[in-house]
Amino acid sequence: MHRVFSGIQPTGNLHLGNYLGATRNWVALQADFECIFCIVDMHAITVWQDPEQLRASTREVAASLIAAGVDPRRHVVFNQSQVPGHAELAWIFNCVARMGWLNRMTQFKEKAGKNKENASVGLFAYPNLMAADILLYKATHVPVGDDQKQHLELTRDIAQKFNNDFKCDIFPIVEPLILGVATRVMSLRDGTKKMSKSDPSDLSRINMIDDADTIAKKIRKAKTDPEDLPVSEEGFAGRPEARNLMSIYAALDGIEMDAVLGRFGGAQFSTFKQELADLAVAKLSPIQDEMRRLMADPGYIDGVLRDGAARARAIAAPIMAEIQDIVGFLRA
Ligand code: TRP
Repeated sequence: MHRVFSGIQPTGNLHLGNYLGATRNWVALQADFECIFCIVDMHAITVWQDPEQLRASTREVAASLIAAGVDPRRHVVFNQSQVPGHAELAWIFNCVARMGWLNRMTQFKEKAGKNKENASVGLFAYPNLMAADILLYKATHVPVGDDQKQHLELTRDIAQKFNNDFKCDIFPIVEPLILGVATRVMSLRDGTKKMSKSDPSDLSRINMIDDADTIAKKIRKAKTDPEDLPVSEEGFAGRPEARNLMSIYAALDGIEMDAVLGRFGGAQFSTFKQELADLAVAKLSPIQDEMRRLMADPGYIDGVLRDGAARARAIAAPIMAEIQDIVGFLRA
């Protein structure tokens, strides 16, 4: 059986990086896998979230998934907090994973920054909850970006240690799925930094709610360098902005980088940017229209999530019971 699990944080302000790096790949996986897509509100609260904003972002992410083409009837879309198994299994994994393993997680170090003493315990244990997300459904494949590879390795370590400690083989060793050209969309203002919702400059990202004029303006203003566009991969050396813009083009158009280099190599940035803006608007506006339509109907979105959570609970329940038996929790 091949089952995909993936998670996305409901932290608002969805942008092109979320779409090209995650959502769009999820849409493509639906043809070949049974997919469980989870809006990870429990991961979100590892750092402070305003409650109203969290609820709104959860609906916004759900709308964006459906608008992009995730089919919540054939696959499962829900928010994490509504399936208690995630928290239950995460606790068990808190007791399986070792302090030393978590101490090596680079994302914790980045997110906690200098003030480690003041980070939440949840932020430290974040990877254990992610392992629980995946293994609660015995998922076999997980699409993730580069930045989550280390967490997926930890998931494999936890699965292996659990299987060893309890002399069983309940948990599969999950495989990462690294997909698509522009899985890493960089800032429009600095090609060495990831496109991020928390960048103070709104010009650094294309938001899913930006209208056509704003998208075109942001691409026009995107940072470039004085040279013409490169004709081959080697030409990207020292030119992160050229690489980023051309890889965004490739991803949006669903073509290989070589094809983009063939088409625009040697051209001026200004010419290329016009083409890129047209392409971005053409590809994004139908999704944006659908997203706006869905967000005007929160009752529908809530219904989708409610139904998804019920189906997720039904898949998780027998697995959680099996885990409890293995651990020795009495189910009287
Ligand atoms: N940590 C992931 C991120 O920030 C989100 C996530 C949570 C996830 N649980 C997951 C991704 C399980 C894949 C599988 O992108």
